[in-house]
Amino acid sequence: MAKFIIEGKQKLSGEIEVYGAKNAAIKMIAGACLFSGKTVLENVPDILDIQKIITILEFFGVRFLRNGHTLEIDTSNMTLGDPDPKLVGEIRASIVLVGPLLSRFGKVKIPHPGGCMIGSRPIDLHIKAFKDLSVKVIENNKFYQFEAPVNLSENKTSQVNFKKISVTGTENILLYASNLENQDTIITNAAIEPEVIDLIKFLKTAGAEIAVSKREISIKGKKNLSPVRYRVMPDRIEAGTFAILAAATKSDLKILNLVPNHLESLLDKFKIMGIQFEINDNSLYIKTSPDFQAISINTGEYPDFPTDLQPPMGILLTQAQGRSMIKENIFDHRLEYLKQLEKMGAKIDLIDTKQAEITGPAKLSGIKLDSLDLRAGATLLIAGLVASGTTEINNAENIDRGYEKIEDRLKRIGAKIKRVL
Ligand code: EPU
Repeated sequence: MAKFIIEGKQKLSGEIEVYGAKNAAIKMIAGACLFSGKTVLENVPDILDIQKIITILEFFGVRFLRNGHTLEIDTSNMTLGDPDPKLVGEIRASIVLVGPLLSRFGKVKIPHPGGCMIGSRPIDLHIKAFKDLSVKVIENNKFYQFEAPVNLSENKTSQVNFKKISVTGTENILLYASNLENQDTIITNAAIEPEVIDLIKFLKTAGAEIAVSKREISIKGKKNLSPVRYRVMPDRIEAGTFAILAAATKSDLKILNLVPNHLESLLDKFKIMGIQFEINDNSLYIKTSPDFQAISINTGEYPDFPTDLQPPMGILLTQAQGRSMIKENIFDHRLEYLKQLEKMGAKIDLIDTKQAEITGPAKLSGIKLDSLDLRAGATLLIAGLVASGTTEINNAENIDRGYEKIEDRLKRIGAKIKRVL
């Protein structure tokens, strides 16, 4: 287990680049399994979650070649594999392999993709959606087996309605239904996160016919989708994390290679709080704002405030003037990190598992902590940079899941951080 050691209160400045989106790239790697041949993805971050999905797919005979941020995926010799259940359990996103593998092989057996620190993470919405498309699902306590229907009547239209919006649920059905010849599928109450829209663009480049109108996605299924070359969108959560880092440490920081529109809900909050920023094409300049005001955060599905930026926002609110509120509406247990910020000196009132009040500004002091999950880990990194003294963060691997070589990038803007193995 590696750890990060941070000396806080350094002045940060300069430029930091945002890499490709984890939650888009993983789905496109899964999507490459829909067809036989070589797909090339550009702007793929070199992070643990991507390495894990690659290792899982190697069990299926998929071959990978990485050159920097370009990943070649060769599915020519792909067969039905039997992935290591432990590995599948470690990465929630492995559930999106069901759609492409079912489409390509007619059946797929996967171990339970597991839960995590942020909540129980069931897959009932995925199962119900596949059943709506006449897929047979056999479930026991170790694995799920999905079997595609054999004789589908021609030109059928099926409807999948999500009773609760699910990002990977929507993506799984998109991946499966795009490749169903002569079958049309309409997804209602679909997720329309930018990563879902980027996956749709990827599939359309491969020849799929998909239309999006508000929360309805219509798919005209076609065989003969073909391998493509595609550039993954920038990671909006990484971009938001860096913007919050700049504001929380009261730094002047230019964040490069992002899509400003994807950050609208965060930047709307910044405006109200009095955090100064400037947008230029695909960069965002956060200016030193000595004082900023408290605010309320309510997480929700896109375009509302993203749950993945809620923990980083939590550390920012410890530095705001006055009483802020956080309400987490997506996951059941995503406020645990606040107990750690409290140990550093933050003034927190944890009302229940989904709501908290934060009073600022608070003086934070460095201590030893464990990173609980990916976004909580990134939050502790920011907390360590805000705090006085030394902060030690165990389980650095949780942060490596989603942020590539984060210590090198932070060092380049003036942070004092080292990784200890
Ligand atoms: N849900 C169910 N049943 C299901 C699926 C989801 O009850 O079958 C519930 C979840 O428990 C949650 C809500 O529905 O309460 C929404 O979950 P969703 O399915 O949208 O989440 P996800 O697809 O599993 C993706 C991202 C998460 C991100 C969420 C919300 C990937 C691999 N993961 O998860 O990213 O927080 O959407 O935007 O795309 C992260 O990157 O740190 C991360 C956790």
